[in-house]
Amino acid sequence: MVNVLKGPEGFENFYSEMFKARWPILKESLLLPKKHVAILNPFSKFKFPGDPISMTGIPYPHHIADSFPHPEKTEEGYFNYYLMDAASILPVMALDPQPGQRVVDLCAAPGGKSLLCAWKMDNQGLLVSNDRSAARRARIHKIFDEYLPKTSQKNLKVTAHDASKWCLYEKNVYDKVLLDAPCSSERHVLIDPKEIALWAPGRTKAIAVSQFAMLASALDIVKPGGTIVYSTCALSELENDDILRKLQQKRGGRYELLRREFPIGEPTEFGWQVLPDNTGWGPFYLAMVKKIK
Ligand SMILES: C[S@@+](CC[C@H](N)C(=O)[O-])C[C@H]1O[C@@H](n2cnc3c(N)ncnc32)[C@H](O)[C@@H]1O
Repeated sequence: MVNVLKGPEGFENFYSEMFKARWPILKESLLLPKKHVAILNPFSKFKFPGDPISMTGIPYPHHIADSFPHPEKTEEGYFNYYLMDAASILPVMALDPQPGQRVVDLCAAPGGKSLLCAWKMDNQGLLVSNDRSAARRARIHKIFDEYLPKTSQKNLKVTAHDASKWCLYEKNVYDKVLLDAPCSSERHVLIDPKEIALWAPGRTKAIAVSQFAMLASALDIVKPGGTIVYSTCALSELENDDILRKLQQKRGGRYELLRREFPIGEPTEFGWQVLPDNTGWGPFYLAMVKKIK
């Protein structure tokens, strides 16, 4: 029998081969509506009525529910909360940005993770939020203005570089680099008939090439002793552990892999993954490295 490579059947073959017996339940969980964490804006006095449901280990006051009303401006003039997938908070926990540090978010739009960094950095040091897309950069500015007073944006800069070429302009400059890379986003592909009709395995392979170029660039721009967090919302291992495997082959000796546990998810060979079949969150992958030289 010929193995179909493209479209919905190709997708099914590719991911069932990758996840084996886990795939049918994982696929079912990817089709369920997404849950959200509402992270409270420290610049709004809004509080959830009663005892908020929260997850141990998430270092931001928050509430969890199947759905929330759209965020609203409160009398202070800022939105009350920011909605995200709990798994999307993990890369910022891993990055651990601190006031006074130089931090860059290489693929920052629409800006959720940059906002979490900005809150933690408390207007001290430098946070560069970069994105190549002009339309998406406008969303970063919008989120900053909706959630932060202008006087608390003095350490923020929005830039428009190609993350994979950044190393041509700056080297050994940042304490922390977040690379939340563009990826296959299979959860979206699976629910969009047009997207899945166009799916082919070459797509994840091509995306992985550009993700590696961005990670190699990140390794150049972070200072020795500084950390890089690489993350994706991809399921494909080509875009997750395989990127770290390639880094080991091509840049081994220049960094050390950092390992830690997070409140949700499971360890992988090089990093950490949150899958919705056993957590209800994600999919999300992250890995951390510390530059040596
Ligand atoms: C997964 S999204 C980032 C989500 C974001 N970190 C957040 O939490 O809101 C990936 C982003 O990378 C941007 N991007 C794609 N290629 C890029 C490149 N070569 N350099 C910089 N940004 C790029 C896209 O425009 C997109 O906004």
